[in-house]
Amino acid sequence: MHERILIVDFGSQYTQLIARRVREHHVFSQVVPAHLAHEHLGDDLKGIILSGGPASAYNADAPVMDACILDAGVPILGICYGLQWLCHHLDGKVVPGGEEREFGFTPLQVLKAEGIFSGVNPQTVVWMSHGDRVEKLPSGFERMAQSSSCPEAAIGDDRRKIYGLQFHPEVAHTREGATILRNFLHWVCGCKGDWTPGDLAAELIQSVRDQVGESGEIVLGLSGGVDSSVVGAICQQAIGKRCHAIFVDNGLLRAGEREIVEGTFLDHFDLDLTVVDAADRFLEKLAAESDPETKRKIIGHEFIEVFREQAKRFDSAHFLGQGTLYPDVIESVAAHGGATAVIKSHHNVGGLPDDLEMGLVEPLRLLFKDEVRELGRVLGLPEEMVARQPFPGPGLAVRCVGECSPERIQLLRAADAIVRHEFESRGEHEGVWQYFAVLTGARSVGVMGDLRTYEEACAIRAVQSSDGMTADWVYPSRDCLQAISNRVINEVRGINRVVLDITSKPPGTIEWE
Ligand code: XMP
Repeated sequence: MHERILIVDFGSQYTQLIARRVREHHVFSQVVPAHLAHEHLGDDLKGIILSGGPASAYNADAPVMDACILDAGVPILGICYGLQWLCHHLDGKVVPGGEEREFGFTPLQVLKAEGIFSGVNPQTVVWMSHGDRVEKLPSGFERMAQSSSCPEAAIGDDRRKIYGLQFHPEVAHTREGATILRNFLHWVCGCKGDWTPGDLAAELIQSVRDQVGESGEIVLGLSGGVDSSVVGAICQQAIGKRCHAIFVDNGLLRAGEREIVEGTFLDHFDLDLTVVDAADRFLEKLAAESDPETKRKIIGHEFIEVFREQAKRFDSAHFLGQGTLYPDVIESVAAHGGATAVIKSHHNVGGLPDDLEMGLVEPLRLLFKDEVRELGRVLGLPEEMVARQPFPGPGLAVRCVGECSPERIQLLRAADAIVRHEFESRGEHEGVWQYFAVLTGARSVGVMGDLRTYEEACAIRAVQSSDGMTADWVYPSRDCLQAISNRVINEVRGINRVVLDITSKPPGTIEWE
């Protein structure tokens, strides 16, 4: 039995990020919806974190939670809405912020540099995102930190060990957020940190076993990327050869991809692998289609059709295994059924039909990329597999702006191979999240020899990121850029211009479509 932290979800986009931060401190956590929180108290519980959320604590439609959690006898940390819930249910008062709404980076002055603020710089920077504010503190509470427009930016009652933060310590923009959370977990809750990536692997293996039962079989969509490879390793340890890996050559793969995947798979897995040659059917369906979301939906749909066909070969293959990660989920679905925008339909989330008739096995659904890499290492996957740059499920299609004719995909594939080779041979790929070529859809006039050309423009896209949810662009060396430019223009007939993409995320996204 491990030490346990209960994370109560009030509907924040950041709830899983809180869970991830708790895991980073090697503490096991459990995320539960607010109305069920009271069912999850117990002897192993070391503390409770209340998430943020879109509601107002004083409104009738605010999420309901049994106030008995206040008497659970363990420390409580309320974040944003969580802080406001505490104030509202103790004898404090929460009011609309009016002009004093705060969003984004905010300087914070720490007034009490002890307990959760132990070791935190007295002048620090935090990430705020709130409309309401606390007007009156509950009795027994004191102010621990303030910002210029939010006097009660952090509050606490040391006697009852209940604390509240108006800002978000879980987002990377809060400079000392990790220290604040560590202080809460280790010093206030007394957690020793007994939860390791090995424990997580064992739990995920067991969850797959429980889900598919004694005789169920899984058809696993293997892309060669780290996510589906890690799912493969989990399934292999969970159910052995009852997992059937399917690698679909959809005609949208990078140069050499199929050979690399087949080679590394055979070297490191003891599962049966089927390679399905489906390039023609994908490219035919995509012909003349240039809308990004439609392209994604077509590809997602076609993948599912292939997997369904493959599943018919096995008697009990009632499950589809996928390497879906948390960022795929959060960007593909409108969170909480509310007004959150769908950014992109990630193919393994947004392309699923209602009548799939297969259970989904997605053990990584709540994890972030770097956690999955760590898990891959724990499961014994080789570094060349674990450290591969992410490659999107819809493949080169989302880097080929406009129509995906076989000829244009081939141009992109050739340019991409050059970009990758120049980054890797110079060691400039180290620490870079992704580096690839994009066929921009623009055409421009050039002159080669003495002749006019009118050809495609290719962009170099290289970004730095920790989870794909935000990213900064990378500036490759001049030598690297020059080599890519010369080689692409000389070697790839049909591209006469190379540009560098200097857009971060947000406001851009990493892929162009
Ligand atoms: P964007 O373009 O949304 O990409 O900023 C964020 C990260 O996700 C990858 N990506 C995908 N991965 N299926 C995937 O498995 C998809 O449909 C998909 N779309 C984008 C992208 O390469 C980047 O790492």
